[in-house]
Amino acid sequence: MPWDELKPRQFPAFETELDGISKQTMEDHYKLYEGYAKKANECRKILNGFDYAEIEGNQVYSELRAVSVDYTFALLGYKNHDLYFGHLGGDGGDPDGRFAELAEEEFNGLGKWFDATKKAASAARGWVMVGYDLNDGSLFNYIMDTQNLWAVYNMVPVLAIDVYEHAYVRDFGATPDGRKQYVEAFFRNVDWDHVNRQLTQAEAAKQGADQSGAREASEFAPAQ
Ligand SMILES: [Fe+2]
Repeated sequence: MPWDELKPRQFPAFETELDGISKQTMEDHYKLYEGYAKKANECRKILNGFDYAEIEGNQVYSELRAVSVDYTFALLGYKNHDLYFGHLGGDGGDPDGRFAELAEEEFNGLGKWFDATKKAASAARGWVMVGYDLNDGSLFNYIMDTQNLWAVYNMVPVLAIDVYEHAYVRDFGATPDGRKQYVEAFFRNVDWDHVNRQLTQAEAAKQGADQSGAREASEFAPAQ
C-alpha cells in the first residue's frame, strides 16, 4: 500500500484543562508533533524519489542510510505522540478493565505495575512505552532512549509516557524530582478507556494471528 500523507490529528486533551500539565506545555508540544508529521512526509517523498539502481548504499554515510534512519525517528515521533495526546484528558486514577487485569497478572499486582512504570519513567531518556506483545500476549514496560529505540517487533503500544524534558520542564522544572511530579500528573490525566481500547485491538490482532497461524499449521501438516 503506498504511503499516505501523515496529518496531525486533533485530540480531546486540547479541549480540556489538564491537572498539572499546562495548556502552554500542550500547545508547544503539539508543534513538535506537527514537525514530526512534516518531516516523516518529507522523508517518504525523498525515499520514493531515489533511483535505487544508482544510489549509493554506504554504511558509514549515505543519503539512503541517513534518510531511512531519520525516517524512523520522525515517524515514531508522530506515532508516539499520537498515542500520548490520545490518552490524555481522562480522569486518571487506577487502571481498570482488561488493562488492569493484565497488568496485575504480569506484574504481580497493580501497585507493583505502578512502581515499575514510574521507575521506568525515571530510567528512560525519552519514552516509556507499555506494550502488548502479539507473540505471547505479555505486557512489558519498554524504556526508550529516543522515540525509535529500544522497542521490539510485534509489540503494540497501549500506554505511552513522554519523558523528554519538553513534556514537563515548563510546569515542573528540569530536575529528576520535577520529572517524578510530572509522571504523577500524567497518571492523574490518563484516559484508561483509551488504553483499554488500544489493548482490545491488540488482543484481537493476536487472536487473528493465532487463528491464521493454526490454520497454516494444519494445512501444512503431513498427510497421515
Ligand atoms: Fe514529546
